[in-house]
Amino acid sequence: MFLDVKYNEKKRKERESMRKFFAAKSPEITKRELEHMELARAVAGECMVLLENDGTLPLAAGGKLALYGMGARHTIKGGTGSGDVNTRSNVTIEQGLAEAGYTITTGGWLDRNERKRTAEKDAYLRWMTEEAERRGCSPFLVSFSDPFAEPAPEMITEEDWRASETDTAVYVISRNSGEGSDRYDRPGDYRLYPEEKEQLAFLGRSYAKVVLVLNIGGVMDLSEIKEIPGIGAVLLMTQLGNIGGQVLADVLSGRVTPSGKLTDTWAKRYEDYPSAAAFSHNDGDVDDEYYTEGIYVGYRYFDTFGVKPLYCFGYGKSYTEFAIRTENVVVKNGQVILSVLVKNTGSEYAGKEVVQVYYSAPEGTLEKPYQELAAFAKTGLLAPGESEKLEIAFAVRDMASYCEKCASWVLEKGDYILRIGSSSADTQAAAVLTLKETVKTEILKNLFADAELPEELHADCTGAVTDDLCDAETMEEPGCDEGAAEAVEENGCGNRAAEEPGCGAGAAGGATQIPHILLCAAEIETRQAQYMEERELYTTDQTRMLTLADVKNGTCTVEELTAQLTVEELAELCVGTLRADGGSIVGNASYTVPGAAGDTSALLQETRGIKNMILADGPAGLRLQPVFKTNKDGELLPGGEILGDSYVSFDKNLEESQTDTYYQYCTAIPIGWALAQSWNLPALERIGAMVGREMEEFGIDLWLAPALNIHRNPLCGRNFEYYSEDPYVSGKAAAAITKGVQSCAGKGTTIKHFAANSQEDNRYFTNSHVSERALREIYLKGFEIAVKESQPFSIMTSYNLINGTHTANSRDLLQAAARDEWGFEGVIMTDWFTSQEQPALTGEAKVKYPISASTGCIYAGNDIQMPGCQKNVDDITEAVKSGREIDGYSVTLADLQYNAANVIRAVCRTSR
Ligand code: BGC
Repeated sequence: MFLDVKYNEKKRKERESMRKFFAAKSPEITKRELEHMELARAVAGECMVLLENDGTLPLAAGGKLALYGMGARHTIKGGTGSGDVNTRSNVTIEQGLAEAGYTITTGGWLDRNERKRTAEKDAYLRWMTEEAERRGCSPFLVSFSDPFAEPAPEMITEEDWRASETDTAVYVISRNSGEGSDRYDRPGDYRLYPEEKEQLAFLGRSYAKVVLVLNIGGVMDLSEIKEIPGIGAVLLMTQLGNIGGQVLADVLSGRVTPSGKLTDTWAKRYEDYPSAAAFSHNDGDVDDEYYTEGIYVGYRYFDTFGVKPLYCFGYGKSYTEFAIRTENVVVKNGQVILSVLVKNTGSEYAGKEVVQVYYSAPEGTLEKPYQELAAFAKTGLLAPGESEKLEIAFAVRDMASYCEKCASWVLEKGDYILRIGSSSADTQAAAVLTLKETVKTEILKNLFADAELPEELHADCTGAVTDDLCDAETMEEPGCDEGAAEAVEENGCGNRAAEEPGCGAGAAGGATQIPHILLCAAEIETRQAQYMEERELYTTDQTRMLTLADVKNGTCTVEELTAQLTVEELAELCVGTLRADGGSIVGNASYTVPGAAGDTSALLQETRGIKNMILADGPAGLRLQPVFKTNKDGELLPGGEILGDSYVSFDKNLEESQTDTYYQYCTAIPIGWALAQSWNLPALERIGAMVGREMEEFGIDLWLAPALNIHRNPLCGRNFEYYSEDPYVSGKAAAAITKGVQSCAGKGTTIKHFAANSQEDNRYFTNSHVSERALREIYLKGFEIAVKESQPFSIMTSYNLINGTHTANSRDLLQAAARDEWGFEGVIMTDWFTSQEQPALTGEAKVKYPISASTGCIYAGNDIQMPGCQKNVDDITEAVKSGREIDGYSVTLADLQYNAANVIRAVCRTSR
């Protein structure tokens, strides 16, 4: 496949002359690699969630172990597509357990299974190549739309059992998924293969101890497993990077006590998810996706509508037990501060506990979910009998809901019940906060109207909103004493607390002494967003040629430097590049760092000192080309490009003496979903800092991660990259990772995919119809938290449309929401090939919506089109010079300068 990339011989030569490779020239494993694997291992143990345990775990040290299941020898380290990481090695479960001293006695079965898998994989690879020829595209595109599915495992026989000579079996189910296609609610994917069911039943009958390990990247149906007798423990391993086997051994052997908690609700049946019927391919329509469940995503739905899940949000067992006691709740300076004592009440194992704080907002005129996560904290490692006091805080204003009718965030008057516990179902009411007057916390404007949105999608937004609510003015409350508390005898703390949430346990019942605390409406500030209207033209009186060095030493401003650039130069800066001569693997683009996903324009490097920024995926580590070669003149040679099952070989006739070989081995960290399940934000910061150090080593400026789309439905192919169904967890995780990366000077993150990118089928053209309230409370909230808390260097827009407008072209999303409302100061870029016709990439099928417009990106403030093509540069230049509308958008010189200045600011931040 040839991609019309922004590339020409002159630019290539320019680049060649300024090339500097950062990669190592020795193939030896480095100290950094070893240290980072240890660091990842230390965190990854906390990412696993123990779902079931009847005492089977932990296993006795050493001894014989029967190991079965597809993931035993083919342990999946992370999902496929751009989120994959090319590592030097991948420790499988078989290797990890053997290393930990276990004797695997099912070698015969593992070998047979290996032969079966190899045969199926070979057949798939042959088909992939032929199919690519048939479609006239690159094989990697075939692997995107039709990825290899792990086959059903080889039969387990009585003979295998006899030969295993042990009473303990570990069975590993694995599932893979990735970008470009969604999963299916069918056997071998969301459900068990019949073979897996039979085999688990056989193991349950044959072994005294059976441990089921889930080496998966997203929720699957576990109800069927619940019905199989004899399975003593179920451990959600997920996909933990290239040290997965060692981490699993740590947990199975009890070296590490699992302390992860679910960040999703696991339903009893797929149909129980409110978006199940129409999600992606389920209803045959992949063009329009109606988010009819509104704000009721995940536990917000299950708890509110009394649908009992199999495992609730926040759930996870430990090898030990904990007692959680709220010691104090105070409200001070707009913050709710809770002191919570956690004690390890077990006698054998040390462990960590996650304390979760939920609030139930009053049923006012706006509908409210039963409860929402407000904050959480994790203890350190507590020895048996040891206690730790946690202080957990959150802002009162963060409990506000969005009212479409008055375009404001609103705290409605009434009782806010705080619940504290170890999962969303296992909580105790800890305080009631009473607000006597409704308060608008923030006055905005509605940005995402959709004429096609069915009326019922607004039911939770405007239904019973009265004028009282919208007219609410913050009143003086004479004598209001913020935080004044009185302990009262409380029987169920009001109606909402007495209702039982979907998960069953946990509603505060019976008589408990909990404080009632008064919130003063007058203390809660009402903020009003200021929106940028027209963009101002930058001018300068300086006549000498300004450079980035002048900006850095304060001789001129970024705006002045920008004002000196021609329209063509400005357009070039706003259109990124892709290596065109090396191969056809997308996301394998950078000249200076082979395997990086692309870079920004280097055109003004020599004249103005504006270097190109190098961008690499994300989010499970750095995705780079592990081995590349140059000739003795330093020119990059083709070969070594890799993306999953697609690999470009080096020319077999290359003489070693005439080439230089370079190595770029990065650490694969646990997938995003796993990281979030640790609920350990300081650990995530450490992981982020580790990635930042690898960026320093390999010369990467912006990491195309973290990814924080909401798990709206378990079948989204990229859920493994994302954190949770909950926006608070997602936003906090993304902020922690960003803080870590950005603690390395000049290195930045790119939070993606902004926004409502919940589906992979037809991903370039799918239109997400979402109410303004659901967008703001669920789909944008995580991005808002990440921007406000960690100011990432960059944002990447998504492929999809929101309510009829491509996110890449949405000035309301990028300028009004991200920049004006949240104060985002960085650069914004598109997702790859968003604004160019590439039928081979985006699909030949007749699609309902057009590709996003290049001019629309400039209009919206989407500063860099990645990777972009010559047509993008030409369209922008022509639109600005002629004043003509192109593809539906007019753009002025001021618009173009605005985008280019954002790029220059980012270059400034990343140039050290
Ligand atoms: C993905 C992005 C990724 C980009 C560059 C796209 O296909 O959607 O997440 O960062 O490729 O590899």
